Amino acid sequence: MQAPHICPGASNGTPPQAPPAGIPLDFKWPEGGVSRVPFRVFSDPAIYALEQEKIFRGPVWHYLCLETEVSQSGDIKTTWLGQTPIIVTRDQDGVVHAMVNRCAHKGALVCLKDRDNKPSLTCVYHAWNYALDGQLKTVAFQDGIRGKGGMPEDFDPARHRLEPLRVQVYCGMVFGTMSGQTPPLHDFLGERTRAFMERNMGQRLKILGVHSQIIHNNWKLYAENVRDSYHATLLHTFYTTFKVNRLDMDGGIVLSDKKWHHISYSKRATLNVAEEYQEAKVHAAQYGSDLEGPELLKTWEGFDDGITHSIQTVFPTLVMQLTLNSLAVRFVVPRGVDKTELFWIFLGYESDTPEQQKMRVMQGNLTGAAGLVALEDGCINSFVQRGTVGSPAHTAFIEMGGRLAESNESSRATEAAVRGFWHGYRDIMGF
Ligand code: FES
Ligand SMILES: [Fe+2]
Repeated sequence: MQAPHICPGASNGTPPQAPPAGIPLDFKWPEGGVSRVPFRVFSDPAIYALEQEKIFRGPVWHYLCLETEVSQSGDIKTTWLGQTPIIVTRDQDGVVHAMVNRCAHKGALVCLKDRDNKPSLTCVYHAWNYALDGQLKTVAFQDGIRGKGGMPEDFDPARHRLEPLRVQVYCGMVFGTMSGQTPPLHDFLGERTRAFMERNMGQRLKILGVHSQIIHNNWKLYAENVRDSYHATLLHTFYTTFKVNRLDMDGGIVLSDKKWHHISYSKRATLNVAEEYQEAKVHAAQYGSDLEGPELLKTWEGFDDGITHSIQTVFPTLVMQLTLNSLAVRFVVPRGVDKTELFWIFLGYESDTPEQQKMRVMQGNLTGAAGLVALEDGCINSFVQRGTVGSPAHTAFIEMGGRLAESNESSRATEAAVRGFWHGYRDIMGF
């Protein structure tokens, strides 16, 4: 005889616990913690909508732009925080502000250009005019025309400003948050994260080029991909062939205290060819190859710690890379449950020599939408999106390097940083 089905939590007569507010009623994170990721999180519109509230409007710092993009008084930069359009400005006193790009009248976008410089912000619809800090200054026809019409007597412009964000600037980057609950940026980043940001980004930055691409996958698949040190040496055969980044180099994975952010690094000079590369049938490891343009990989050592390749993330959407000498900031903006815009900003330091700048520009050909390496990431995430969309009840299996999310400075054959991302995600989403 078949045993009766008993709901978990109902065997002693108590009803099953309802999930926290906002979480789809039938959603439950599977057994196995962060080593199992339900495919549903990549394609469920209800979860996507909840992320906008809990992550993008929640108690999290988000990268908004580079400080150099708003270096002068009157500079304006538009961007997005999740789906919310954002304006970043520098006012006449040199103070950086961020606000929602949504007119306090009827909600139109106020700033339309990517970058601009103006003494104030004027909405094109009905010409409401705002100061660079978002305060409403004037309303067209506030007193009507010839004494007729106009706003009511008790209309108070001070109560109708552009919605402000809290802003902090660190390592040449402007961060913003829409929540009053977000801890100070210093604490949000943690000590190890800050120290490595200082290493790579702690000089005056110069933008060498910017581009973006649409990738056809949920934004979290990109967040996983950049934390996945396991794939880099297998999918990116260029890296393996030309010994830019291989797991048989010294290197490690460092997770921040709360596990949300990570650093992956390797040291090119320490390559000790491992037999596992032959056994794993990594084709590119089995033959040598020459570049017709060897200047692509002409480099110099900018630091004395031996690290030649690093990827650093800040939860949820920021990536900083220093691959050989190719310095870049990347960030993703969700454009729908299965569509994401990936932005690349290639950088140098103001102190670079012309020759160094030329080398950085040349190495920019490794990554980006048309690069030799990162084009593979542009499609691999869509393979996962397409492979998983019909199987929301199934899960990913993420046990390379164990089941926990912990730093490992002796091996990068681990998915620890991917588990770290899901640790942060579950914390903030309440899953
Ligand atoms: S919507 Fe901006 S002034 Fe009317
Ligand atoms: Fe990759």
